[in-house]
Order: sequence, then structure tokens, then C-alpha cells
Amino acid sequence: MQKTQPLKLILATSFILSAISGAAIAQQETVVPATKVTYGDYQNWRLLAISHRQDKKTLRAILGNNKAIEAARQGQTQTWPDGTVFAKVVWKETTHPSWPQAIVPGDFEKAEAMIKDSKKYASTGGWGFGYWEGKNLKMYPQEKSQECFACHVAVKAHDYVFTKPVLQ
Ligand code: HEC
Repeated sequence: MQKTQPLKLILATSFILSAISGAAIAQQETVVPATKVTYGDYQNWRLLAISHRQDKKTLRAILGNNKAIEAARQGQTQTWPDGTVFAKVVWKETTHPSWPQAIVPGDFEKAEAMIKDSKKYASTGGWGFGYWEGKNLKMYPQEKSQECFACHVAVKAHDYVFTKPVLQ
């Protein structure tokens, strides 16, 4: 979805332009990098930690909104306060073209969220599970959230959060 939307837009624009001024412009307009991505509001958030999933061959940045950063700095992570939002931004891993021993982010894969609201999300440990579709944060339906939560139960003792902030 995320990748096809801008492409669709460009294709639509190209179509109109080509109708007006010929196919040459259309060809120019369709040359768009396939990995062009729209980021959500987490784009301006601070980094809490990074992770590398060897099994999934992805690199992740775990970012926090102001509430999360404030809580991390004050050591209020047991439990995280209501209003905390984490973004887990995931890229496929690749090797640096000039230095193959360095593993670096490749194509953007997805951005997922955890939102603390102890009342609203009481049935999943006080955490809502969501994802960004382009700029928009959407919540997963109940069934999917239960799946997310089921795995995060492994770190129940840490308020269901795997990430240990390393940059505060
Ligand atoms: C099979 C286990 C598993 C499932 C299912 C799972 N997660 Fe996680 N999640 C992890 C692990 C392990 C980490 C820490 C390492 C990493 O960054 O991936 C994590 C980290 C996170 C983080 C960063 C905060 C934290 O807890 O460290 C967010 C946000 C997150 N997951 C969202 C989700 C969402 C949304 C879903 C459901 C669509 C989900 N997770 C499903 C295992 C899981």
C-alpha cells in the first residue's frame, strides 16, 4: 500500500501531463524511486534504541514521542506513563556498497506503534498496537492486537516492552 500509493499518484499525474503535452513528459514523470516513502509523525521523534532481527534480516530503530523520552530520562519505565508512544521503524538489512562488512538499512519495510493508555487498552496490558500507513497512525483490529500482545507477554516484567532505552 505504502509503496503503491505515491506511484499511483505519479502515474495519474503522468497520464494527465501526457494527455496535454505528449508522451515524453509521461516517461520522465514515471521515473520514481520505488522506495519513496512517506513517514509518519515519528520522523521527528528521538531514538531510544536500535535492534537487529537476525531471523528477519531487518534493522529497526525504536523511537519515542516526547512523553516516552521524558519517561526514559526520569527512569519511569516501570511502568511507562499513559501517553507514551513508541515507533518501531523497520528496514531490510543490506550491506554498504563501499564497505560490505557494514550492515546498513536498505528498503523501508514498515513502521509499527505501541501506545500506552492503561484504561482504553486494559485487555492488552495497557498497550494499543498500531502501524503507520503513510503519515497516518492506525490501530490494529482487536484480533491482531492480541497476536502482538501475546508475544510481548514474554516481557511482562518490563511492562510488555522489549526495548531498553540506550540513548536518553
Ligand atoms: C513473535 C514476537 C512478536 C510479535 C508477534 C510482535 N512483536 Fe513487537 N517486538 C518483539 C520483539 C522481540 C521486540 C524487540 C526487538 C525488535 O525491535 O524487534 C519488539 C518490539 C516492538 C516495539 C518497540 C517497543 C518494544 O516493546 O521494544 C513495538 C512498537 C512493537 N514491537 C510493536 C509490535 C506490533 C504492533 C505487533 C503486532 C503487529 C508486534 N509488535 C508483534 C516481538 C514481537
